[in-house]
Amino acid sequence: MRIGIFGTGYVGAVTAVCLADLGHSVTAADKDPRVVGKLADGEPTIYEPGLREMLVANLKRRRLRFTTVPDEVMSRSDVVFLCVGTPPRSDGHADLGQVEEVVRTIAPMLDGYKLIVEKSSVPANTATRLRSEINRFADPKSRYDVASNPEFLREGTAIHDFLHPDRIVIGVDSERARSLLLDLYRGSFSCPLYVTDVKTAELIKHAANAFLATKISFMNMVADLCDEIGADVVAVSQALGLDRRIGRHFLDAGLGFGGSCLPKDLKAFVKVAAEVGLDFALLREVERINIGRTERLLRKVDRALDGVEGKTVAILGATFKPNTDDVRDAPSLRVIPKLKEAGAALRVYDPQGLSNLAKMLAPDDQLRHVESAYDAARGAHALVILTDWSEFRELDLQRIRSLMQAPIIVDGRNLFDPVDMRAQGFEYYTLGRGDASLIPGMGTEPQ
Ligand code: UGA
Repeated sequence: MRIGIFGTGYVGAVTAVCLADLGHSVTAADKDPRVVGKLADGEPTIYEPGLREMLVANLKRRRLRFTTVPDEVMSRSDVVFLCVGTPPRSDGHADLGQVEEVVRTIAPMLDGYKLIVEKSSVPANTATRLRSEINRFADPKSRYDVASNPEFLREGTAIHDFLHPDRIVIGVDSERARSLLLDLYRGSFSCPLYVTDVKTAELIKHAANAFLATKISFMNMVADLCDEIGADVVAVSQALGLDRRIGRHFLDAGLGFGGSCLPKDLKAFVKVAAEVGLDFALLREVERINIGRTERLLRKVDRALDGVEGKTVAILGATFKPNTDDVRDAPSLRVIPKLKEAGAALRVYDPQGLSNLAKMLAPDDQLRHVESAYDAARGAHALVILTDWSEFRELDLQRIRSLMQAPIIVDGRNLFDPVDMRAQGFEYYTLGRGDASLIPGMGTEPQ
């Protein structure tokens, strides 16, 4: 099939490369000539495992091309995916400016039938807005449909998620759109293809992310309770997860959710509800709990060190999750400034995220980037883990201990077994494994 893609960020690049790999002819456009130049040279502009290899292979097979010219996309495709960003506005609504700009650009180019598919996360009813925008700028004789085919890709495993999805949601309001999208996916995927109307498909995307966020915040409240009463949240989540009605995923307690999707979609979903007079208070609480995670971690660091002023603190992890270089809405962006403000000297290490971190928080004498976890630990009074990179699980902990001034670890991702860590000579603090009472001033006070 001839596919067009608008926007070659994380969703657009992965969609373009995977559809090409499945044998389709893909033309992808981006406004940024630098991004287009790099992709055309086989150089992804984001870090995503497996993307580079697949990009290079499909450029060679000539199934994939990149351009800055929208006309080229329109003349070379039958199905056009909208993959541009929908960042949050300051009032929490999704900013649809980029999506609307694309449809205004392509509307006058509609010639013959085209299927225009929303892939970016958009609030329910966006297709209605897009149709009126297109009708304003298109030739009245032009024929097109707007459909929704939301993505459920996770950064870090996006290629795998694209090629092995749990389900594919297809939102269509016409038979022609339905059969085109079914044709696109049916031959290549064995998962359920869930067909619904466009509004429902749009809503499914927001509901999925909001539900995942709810699971995480629920477990984080359970984690705080575990901390206070001396129970272990990891055991609780494993036991809960064995119940198939609950499911084992997204029950990892710790610093909570970040990234460019969950926090943004949660806010947007609350706004969509408010617009029709519904107070989605549950989700407002989910957000409040999530924001409180860094404060809880910082309190533990402060108490463990008896004040951070003048202390050296090693930070492991800048990205919002492992296997990505993305630091958007990452806990590091909240934790680092607070520790700096409190007078700590920081040494930060992340396997992929340091250059993006530097764009948000410039390194200086007080905030140094280092090249390994061991460099970060050297001379540190405490080591604070913010991201669950598997590299951190495999550290030589005795080496870390010998490099540190004091063997204190505050783990925001619950990577290690507390009993083992204490046996290895660490003061090991977690979020939810019953150690609040080990820190003076935290935990339930005796009556
Ligand atoms: C999320 C969804 O998982 C995807 O299905 C969706 O397509 C994507 O948003 C999107 O809307 O584009 P992503 O943001 O890449 O994907 O990351 P997740 O794997 O969902 O993790 C989000 C955050 O939750 C991370 O900060 C992670 O550390 C945190 N998390 C995840 C937990 O704190 N606990 C868990 O058990 C799982």
